[in-house]
Amino acid sequence: MIPESFIQELINRVDIYDVINKSVPLKKAGANYSACCPFHNEKSPSFTVSPTKQFYHCFGCGAHGTSIGFLMEYQGLSFVEAVQELAKIAGMIVPEETRDTDKPQQKIIPGMQEALQTALNYYRAELKKSPRAIEYLKGRGLSGQVAANFQVGYAPAGWQNLQSVFPQYESEVLETIGLVVKNEQGKRYDRFRDRIMFPIHDQKGQVIGFGGRVIDPEDTPKYYNSPETPLFQKGNELYGLFMARRAMRDACRALVVEGYMDVVALAQYGIEYAVAALGTATTPVHIAKLTRQTDEIVFCFDGDNAGLKAAWRAAMNALPALTDGLKLSFLFLPSEHDPDSFVREFGKEAFEAKVKTALPLSQYIIQHLSADNPLQSQEDKVRFLNDAEPILQQIQAPRSRLFLSKRIAELTGVSQDEMQGMLKLPNIQRQQQARPKQTRTPVSIHRRFLLMLLMRPDLVSAQDSSLIKGETDEDKMLRAGIEAAILYPSSKPAAILHHMQDKSDPKLMREVERELQLLDESLDVALEISGARKQLIEMRQQRAHTNLFDTIKEKSLSELTEEERALLRGLGNSQKNSM
Ligand code: UTP
Ligand code: MN
Repeated sequence: MIPESFIQELINRVDIYDVINKSVPLKKAGANYSACCPFHNEKSPSFTVSPTKQFYHCFGCGAHGTSIGFLMEYQGLSFVEAVQELAKIAGMIVPEETRDTDKPQQKIIPGMQEALQTALNYYRAELKKSPRAIEYLKGRGLSGQVAANFQVGYAPAGWQNLQSVFPQYESEVLETIGLVVKNEQGKRYDRFRDRIMFPIHDQKGQVIGFGGRVIDPEDTPKYYNSPETPLFQKGNELYGLFMARRAMRDACRALVVEGYMDVVALAQYGIEYAVAALGTATTPVHIAKLTRQTDEIVFCFDGDNAGLKAAWRAAMNALPALTDGLKLSFLFLPSEHDPDSFVREFGKEAFEAKVKTALPLSQYIIQHLSADNPLQSQEDKVRFLNDAEPILQQIQAPRSRLFLSKRIAELTGVSQDEMQGMLKLPNIQRQQQARPKQTRTPVSIHRRFLLMLLMRPDLVSAQDSSLIKGETDEDKMLRAGIEAAILYPSSKPAAILHHMQDKSDPKLMREVERELQLLDESLDVALEISGARKQLIEMRQQRAHTNLFDTIKEKSLSELTEEERALLRGLGNSQKNSM
């Protein structure tokens, strides 16, 4: 865990303007900056960056967050990576976790990148010297040119070959980046021995890890990969992405395959827009990285059972990342083939023709769900709806979800309205239409008071807790806010929100967070808060009067108590006065 105080300090030190402007050029717009939103397609800018609040917000798609959030969204980084990236910009050192963990602490050590590059140069030079390795690659149809493009190398047989390029073979760096392994006796040896080496690059083209393939089919495992290291996390990287970027943009398409050799062989046949997940399931980070290059992703996994499973997992992982502009489809090859063998046997045209027949995600989902479901009995249909529900719920893209839910409704013979009611799908379309309006129509007085107290909890007084009597979700939230403000008068908005969360409706909380971000910077919060308080007091009085009026209107004048008569006189006056 990175200490909260460090994160605060980091956000204070780094200017969000600098962070975002590097990737999304910003234009000055009043007190803020604006640009076309990088998270959805648009022609006129609705993405704004507030230097005073240090966060960004898009009025079009609702994306919002801090510098850290931006890096996570935009570059597909994990939270820790984003913090590290920012720390680099700010020239700060991320404090290490002090608590005990089972894993030894891995830290970024200077020289890791250089060491990997040195090893890569060595492996490439060794390939030239090994007729056996060259023969193997030629046998798999690779030209020298493609091998060079992918910087393929060879790690010779032997236990400590790397010693020849690393005089400090004992260095901790080599172990941390997974080039050297230490056995139980403390003896060090090369991780990769007698293997064809496929370097894995990050998005800047720097080598961050390796996959090594055996030459001798008897050896195991077939592929041996770098372990997870501070530079290399399998769930975040795609093999071949750096080389494929250009071709992806030209072809307007990315192809996701399973293996190193699939990527390389496809490139050999002129299909240069393929990448491979590194022996893991395709993750949402992978998808996010690809959608930055292209709007069409075709998954092409092996035709065997493992490939079918991987395809379904990829589909499920993609759901939260779906947008209506993104086209995902799934290509299933004959079961005896993988992309490498298919393209070698049938060539580029046949492969690309096959790509054109790939099954769109929606059809794939329906096909998969109905594969072992005859959809005949009521029980079949119930099961189908049960299976479909979590899938629909994860899709945030309104049109994609609408069409999928329509198809599911048809297949089960329920109406679209019944579906909506039954599956409790949040109505995205309505939310999206309401969003721009929300920014213009003033928020309720309750909400306004809450927003102001988040900004200045110190201005809340103990009497304020008597202002809110109702039991609506909004009342409860405001009461929780007042309590938190009284307890933590010097806290930041985010901290107050945190203290309120157990007693408040999460959806309302999210709305408040959004409104907080839209708050006009030039407001005089003290003035606002006393104004809002005055209105709340008036509302309370009016409510009391209405209640009183309701009770006394049922009574005859003679039944009224002296007290009720007095209030009635007062009510008449105040109503006259206010007219
Ligand atoms: P495959 O077994 O389908 O390999 O594994 P492949 O790419 O077709 O390999 P060739 O054609 O026999 O050379 C697909 C991917 O799964 C990972 C690798 O990333 C591989 O490219 N894998 C496979 C491993 O990490 N370790 C293994 O032992 C096998
Ligand atoms: Mn293969």
